[in-house]
Amino acid sequence: MGGVNYPPPAQVSTSRKPIVVALLGCGTVGGGVLQLLSENSEALKQKIGVPLEVAHVLVRDPKKSRVAECKDEWVTTDPDVIFNDERVDVVIEVMGGENPARNYIERAIEKKLTVVTANKLLVAMHGPSLIEQAKSSGVDLAFEAAVGGGIPIIRTLRDALNGDRIESMHGILNGTCNYILTRMRDEGADFQEVLNDAKELGYAEADPTLDIEGLDAAQKLIIACMLSYGSSFAHDAAPTEGITAIDSLDFSAAANFGFTIKHLAVARDLGETLSLHIHPALIPQTSALANIDGVLNALLIHGKGLGPCMLMGRGAGDLPTAVSVVADLVDVARARSEGHCGVTTRSVQVGSRKLAPL
Ligand code: NAP
Ligand code: HSE
Repeated sequence: MGGVNYPPPAQVSTSRKPIVVALLGCGTVGGGVLQLLSENSEALKQKIGVPLEVAHVLVRDPKKSRVAECKDEWVTTDPDVIFNDERVDVVIEVMGGENPARNYIERAIEKKLTVVTANKLLVAMHGPSLIEQAKSSGVDLAFEAAVGGGIPIIRTLRDALNGDRIESMHGILNGTCNYILTRMRDEGADFQEVLNDAKELGYAEADPTLDIEGLDAAQKLIIACMLSYGSSFAHDAAPTEGITAIDSLDFSAAANFGFTIKHLAVARDLGETLSLHIHPALIPQTSALANIDGVLNALLIHGKGLGPCMLMGRGAGDLPTAVSVVADLVDVARARSEGHCGVTTRSVQVGSRKLAPL
């Protein structure tokens, strides 16, 4: 909150020792993270100033086959192995869900460990309180991968556009929905078959109803609004509709009038209130968002000073999402190694805004 004096950054050693990392989860995203850390280790060391060292990987099933970069000796099913290891500096939470992920992140922050997470459900549900906890502990909580997979949306809203007033945001924020709608439109493909493909490709959530019922996109919009407007709405506060009622025939009917169908997440600043809604929408075929297809996501931002600005890229999948996680890791590891952790997180100001009635 504005005006609150936070303690100085966590006192961490500024010696040039490696930054020690523990992963919570090693599925689609965690596997991608380990691949990038291995492929780019030398470049990452140059960027951070010290090497990164993975010490632990927490999973449910230690027998499952994993990416080749996941060493057997890292794998554990016991979170205490991580929390009792005094060498650990950064915890990367890529397991998903509310609990035990929330509990682990709170434990990490309490221990003054820096946290990187891709968990939009958790950030949408508990972001403001976790951010406050991180600020009080003088550590960073970074979550670039929580919105738009590999697209740098969080940094843009938090840093690049913080001198402007965001008038509106229109987003295609769920890769699974956009992939399904695109294949239904272009191939007349069956909804369930394409959803199965999206699961195979690692796009869908462990519980894919979060994708197809629009809840995942709603959580991402809540997070984007937290950064753009400092709002702290409940994760399910916005009116939300998914894509399950869309039929292949709807696309030909829409095309007859020069439209296509996209699943949109929309936020508008009405001054006193914010209007938020998430639903399938008819949009003109000539508009930029109409041509964001497949697993691509996009966020069209209108700033009062800037005017329109559109960010687009792959919104789901192992390596695109891992790019965002590793970018956060580089930032927080550098901050930790140089003794100024917590600075980025302290720049996020969460207050209260009213939601407009529907
Ligand atoms: P995933 O493939 O299902 O992987 C989850 C991993 O977490 C698995 O390794 C699983 O262990 C482990 N895990 C889950 N619950 C656990 C528990 N209670 N204790 C220990 N380990 C546990 O999920 P994902 O697709 O990588 O997604 C991870 C997070 O990233 C989610 O929050 C998701 O919303 C977010 N995200 C995903 C994408 C994407 O494209 N997939 C993009 C952006 C953000 P086992 O392997 O042993 O089962
Ligand atoms: N299930 C999500 C999607 C993953 O399809 O967009 C990326 O957040």
